[in-house]
Amino acid sequence: MRITMIGSGYVGLVSGACFADFGHDVVCVDLDDKKIAALGRGEIPIFEPGLDRLVADNVAAGRLRFTTQLAPAVADAQVVFIAVGTPSRRGDGHADLSYVHAAAADIARALSGFTVVVTKSTVPVGTGDEVERIIAETNPDADVAVVSNPEFLREGAAIEDFKRPDRIVIGLEDERARELMTEVYRPLYLNQAPLLFTGRRTAELIKYAGNAFLAMKITFINEIADLCEKTGANVQEVARGIGLDKRIGSKFLNAGPGYGGSCFPKDTLALVKTGQDHESPLRLIEATVAVNDQRKRAMGRRVIAALGGSVRGKTIGVLGLTFKPNTDDMREAPSIAIIQALQDAGARIKAYDPEGMGMARTLIEGIDYASDAYDAAAGAHCLVLITEWNQFRSLDMKRLKATMAAPNFVDLRNVYRRRELEAAGFAYHSIGRSG
Ligand code: UGA
Repeated sequence: MRITMIGSGYVGLVSGACFADFGHDVVCVDLDDKKIAALGRGEIPIFEPGLDRLVADNVAAGRLRFTTQLAPAVADAQVVFIAVGTPSRRGDGHADLSYVHAAAADIARALSGFTVVVTKSTVPVGTGDEVERIIAETNPDADVAVVSNPEFLREGAAIEDFKRPDRIVIGLEDERARELMTEVYRPLYLNQAPLLFTGRRTAELIKYAGNAFLAMKITFINEIADLCEKTGANVQEVARGIGLDKRIGSKFLNAGPGYGGSCFPKDTLALVKTGQDHESPLRLIEATVAVNDQRKRAMGRRVIAALGGSVRGKTIGVLGLTFKPNTDDMREAPSIAIIQALQDAGARIKAYDPEGMGMARTLIEGIDYASDAYDAAAGAHCLVLITEWNQFRSLDMKRLKATMAAPNFVDLRNVYRRRELEAAGFAYHSIGRSG
């Protein structure tokens, strides 16, 4: 199959490289010539485990190319994926579709012969209709089937998620697309991943409903964690106890500092807006958004409380800045709100993150960076573990404590056991585990 991917960001790059690895002939297009030049040299602009190797292997095999020239890449393709960004629109929280609309018009001008145009970007329900309209308006002779094929990969596990998905969702209105889309995903289909064909609007909504449900599940266990603290229960045991019920499921029940990232915050907000637009309010999702926002800020207050009510003039060592491990992505990371709250209260911040410090420098002002976890602890009155990178899971507590100004440890990911840390001489605070 000849596939063209418009947009070489997270989703476009991972999907393009994986499709090439399936044996398809893939061209990734991006307007950013610096990015394309870097990719051509084998430099990957994001941190994603295994992606550099996957790109290099497929470039070497001649199945994967990068270009800024959209027109020839589209003219040659049987299937064109739109994988451009859909950020939150400033001011109102709606998804900003300007990149999707611009891509649709650019594609329309370059089409030649029957082509399947697929939105892979996360787009509000009805966007496929709009893409179809833009293409017809820009090029009345175009022969296209517009399909919705949302992506469910997680940062940090993107390749694994792409290659071993729970399901592949394909929303179409034109039956001619069914065969080509089946061909695109044949290697996964042969691996038993169910291909779920739906209407286009349904597929678009599946993506948002899925992310909103997961965000709600995390927010639910976070509120239960607060109740556990007040009542002397243990949230990890509650999560295990309810998660073993197959109707609930054990995943995404880890209590923490609130969800962040480039997807859940933006997608929950956009879904709320869609609900409001259609006079079909999504009250559970509205509450999820509000509770999660409050939670991130509350985590800062929790650290202040752990230090007896004041952090003025004190140094807080922060372990982990990214919104989750195995990524360099800081977007909507809980660390941003937590650090802000601590700085506002007069604390000095010394932070370490294995991959996130580059992006952190552009987002958070006035913090010092450490060279590793032990350096972050030196002179600190408290260590706060915000992101559960593997390298923070087996720290030498005696070594940490030896250089700290006071032995306080706030574990926002429940990585450690109270017994261990108290035995090492720390005052230990975690999430939803009072005992
Ligand atoms: C999420 C979804 O999991 C993917 O299926 C989806 O494709 C993606 O959004 C997207 O829309 O593109 P991602 O944002 O990469 O993926 O990361 P997650 O692993 O879902 O984590 C999101 C946030 O929830 C993180 O801040 C994480 O720490 C938090 N989380 C997750 C918890 O606090 N507890 C949990 O049990 C799980």
